[in-house]
Amino acid sequence: MDAIAVTRDDRTPRVVDLPQPEPGPGEALVRTLRVGVDGTDHEVIEGDHGGFPDGEDHLVLGHEAVGVVEDPNGTDLETGDVVAPTVRRRPNGSNEYFERGEPDMAPGGKYHERGIDGAHGFMAEYFTSPAEFLVPVPDALADVGFLVEPASVSEKAFEHAFASRSAFDWRPESALVLGNGSLGLLTLAMLDARGDFERTYCLGRRDRPDPTIEFIEKVGATYVDSRETPVPEIPDVHEPVDFVYEATGYPKHAFETVEALAPNGVGALLGVPEDWDFEVAGGRIHRELVLENKALVGSVNSGVGHFEAAVDALQALPEWAFDDLVTGVYDLDEFERAFADDETTIKTAVQFADR
Ligand code: NAP
Ligand code: BGC
Ligand code: ZN
Repeated sequence: MDAIAVTRDDRTPRVVDLPQPEPGPGEALVRTLRVGVDGTDHEVIEGDHGGFPDGEDHLVLGHEAVGVVEDPNGTDLETGDVVAPTVRRRPNGSNEYFERGEPDMAPGGKYHERGIDGAHGFMAEYFTSPAEFLVPVPDALADVGFLVEPASVSEKAFEHAFASRSAFDWRPESALVLGNGSLGLLTLAMLDARGDFERTYCLGRRDRPDPTIEFIEKVGATYVDSRETPVPEIPDVHEPVDFVYEATGYPKHAFETVEALAPNGVGALLGVPEDWDFEVAGGRIHRELVLENKALVGSVNSGVGHFEAAVDALQALPEWAFDDLVTGVYDLDEFERAFADDETTIKTAVQFADR
């Protein structure tokens, strides 16, 4: 079967021929429909994040998948079910995080991430997975089912951030998304659909005309250009915000988030930056966190419950949001276009099969 992979000595994604996988006990065989591409895939391709499966010279890419069950293989699934696979798998034997059903909380070394770290991804005509990691997707969402994984990452971040505000009567009014990449924009649309916030903002560093700025304004949010209004100035120029969702991977934003927050606010940090040493106003930031009851929450990955919440969240989005977010879906013969990283691209996917 065809798969898209990078090899240890050639990091350019290319089509490779691999044997079709056979499901083991408790696993189903899935025919892949579409697999999305995000910033993490670009980091993996560049060798900045993740790693190859032990002893293998290639890594099949892709962690945002939707497919159709081809062979339930004795599991509770049925042939034809549309499913989205979660990303983390047991590394070499199980551990307490998988046994508790919380692999997304496992520390490094206690998981593999398919398509990212130590395990092959889903960019192949077929993949197998333990049925416990295959989440049902309604047929109506099949075309955009590759958005379930990124939406689940945000559902987890919301859950953790809002839980940190659950000990008092938190009444948030405003939210700020840092980053106008695919994760930031999808999350902005999700926040709008949740209706928890009266006012939303999204930060980028682009000139108009730009499709991401158009998307931000269509959602009803305010575009903030970080070149004109750095994050710490947002409270003066706009307002202190109750919730910040960081999806830039720009590490100064982790600290600047504290300065953008209103008293009692919470920031969720999602970006995965490279090492960078810089000075911060540590005393002021520490003081603000304490005297203004602010919180910062780091959040990575997601589990089955977050995937289920993501399915609900996607069902609440207007059709135009999918049309505008998904700027390209490409067949295998032009899959390279899905990895283009220019300013007209928001979200792309590779299509392996029609439903
Ligand atoms: P992406 O497409 O690279 O998006 C990042 C966006 O942030 C880009 O649009 C970029 O703008 C913008 N940006 C970067 N620095 C900025 C700055 N100083 N001011 C204003 N805008 C800035 O990546 P993504 O797929 O959306 O993911 C976002 C981040 O989340 C990445 O770091 C990724 O690794 C991480 N991530 C984490 C998880 C998790 O589980 N924690 C899951 C998925 C992704 P330009 O395009 O104009 O350069
Ligand atoms: C994926 C997560 C993963 C994270 C760190 C993200 O792009 O969506 O599932 O845990 O990268 O590798
Ligand atoms: Zn991702």
